[in-house]
Amino acid sequence: MTNTVGMTPALEAELGNTFGPHLEAVCARTAQALRACGYTGLLVHSGSLLTVFEDDRTYPFEAHAPYKVWVPACEVPDSFLWFEPGLRPRVIVHTPRDYWYKPAELPQGYWVRYFDVHGAADLAGARALLPHDLSHAAYLGDPAPEITAWGPAAVNPPALMRRLDYARAAKTPYELLCLRAANRLGARGHLAAARAFADGATEFEIELAFIDACGLREQELPYNPIIALNEGGAVLHYQVLNRTPPPALHSLLIDAGAEFAGYASDITRTYSRWDADFRALIGRLDALQQQLCGQVRPGVDWRSVQLEAHRLAAKLLREADLIRCSAEEAVDTGVTSVFLPHGIGHLLGLEVHDVGGFMASPEGGEIPRPDGHPYLRLTRILEEGFVVTMEPGIYFIPQLLEAARADKRRSSINWSRIEGLRKFGGIRIEDDLAVTTGGCENLTRDAFRAVQ
Ligand code: GLY
Ligand code: MN
Ligand code: MN
Repeated sequence: MTNTVGMTPALEAELGNTFGPHLEAVCARTAQALRACGYTGLLVHSGSLLTVFEDDRTYPFEAHAPYKVWVPACEVPDSFLWFEPGLRPRVIVHTPRDYWYKPAELPQGYWVRYFDVHGAADLAGARALLPHDLSHAAYLGDPAPEITAWGPAAVNPPALMRRLDYARAAKTPYELLCLRAANRLGARGHLAAARAFADGATEFEIELAFIDACGLREQELPYNPIIALNEGGAVLHYQVLNRTPPPALHSLLIDAGAEFAGYASDITRTYSRWDADFRALIGRLDALQQQLCGQVRPGVDWRSVQLEAHRLAAKLLREADLIRCSAEEAVDTGVTSVFLPHGIGHLLGLEVHDVGGFMASPEGGEIPRPDGHPYLRLTRILEEGFVVTMEPGIYFIPQLLEAARADKRRSSINWSRIEGLRKFGGIRIEDDLAVTTGGCENLTRDAFRAVQ
């Protein structure tokens, strides 16, 4: 593992019990995909270190997800996974002799007994640990000439990659343990962030509180935390971390997650500092979010969840006196998209916006987004084991409000009410859900209860 933050002896035992079946599932689906695409083996690269322009420093390393799905120790660049159906998979860890940087050691832990694990001081050493003839194998990873010169049949072949992407949507019990652990770490961070906000902290100080409580370095997080005070909440992926306090403190929107063994959590909460009306609006959105979570089960078309979110948002806007038109008209005329412009959720796993969200089948084909919903990232039918986010929002975004004021939606919006709410920026509530046989498990709410 990259680090042992969040690990306990009990969790380690559970991971040890479930990793074998996880690996079997990954082997089986990979063997099937290789057969379908006409390859006899698969070489997966953990990734290369990228250097800063005209410098010898490197950017923080991020291992490629197709490697992480096999290997929980994902912090070492230029490492490889070799798989041939029917044989024990091999991990080749880059273990250079170096005195500038601390070389990686051979990994330990609950998962290593399932692999042949080797160290290689350099690429030539890694090549020597692979079969002589790679001409029937596929390679997934950075297309570095030193590696592609080894002669694989194909480099990142889309047909194979899409099949593997498709399968990643449904998580194994092992992966669910990792996602639960990532949620517990994220929940710890969120509770500390909420306390910091209550104490009047700046955006920057709230981030420090979050990462300190998670116990992770910033580069170990699955994405840069979105920490917005006041009207910053109207910027969906707000990236500024102000170091000075605003003149008056009204609200906090924090969208931040943690990572465990390569798996991400993606969690958003919104808080009102003093204002009871804004707090009540947060309560309404929270109830709406829970109503949507209640609809998640196998067989549900995610596009219908997106459309239902707009119907419920319209009702909320009407009941909270933010709009003047009927709820139906608000949906039909695009008024709800002024307040809720993004997708209701996405697949989550090794990447925070996980792959394969639009795929019609393992062979390919796309399920298009519904008209008028350009930012939806998932259009598939839910299956047991899928992990998705549920993240409705209501925002006061100047650009979208101006556009609505300039067109026929002008008369539908209660502008005086909106003026009073602009200073809060917006609300988003986001939980991570694992689809179960008859419904879903809310990984995030369970995690908050566990760490509170
Ligand atoms: N944190 C990015 C998102 O919620 O999709
Ligand atoms: Mn999300
Ligand atoms: Mn998020």
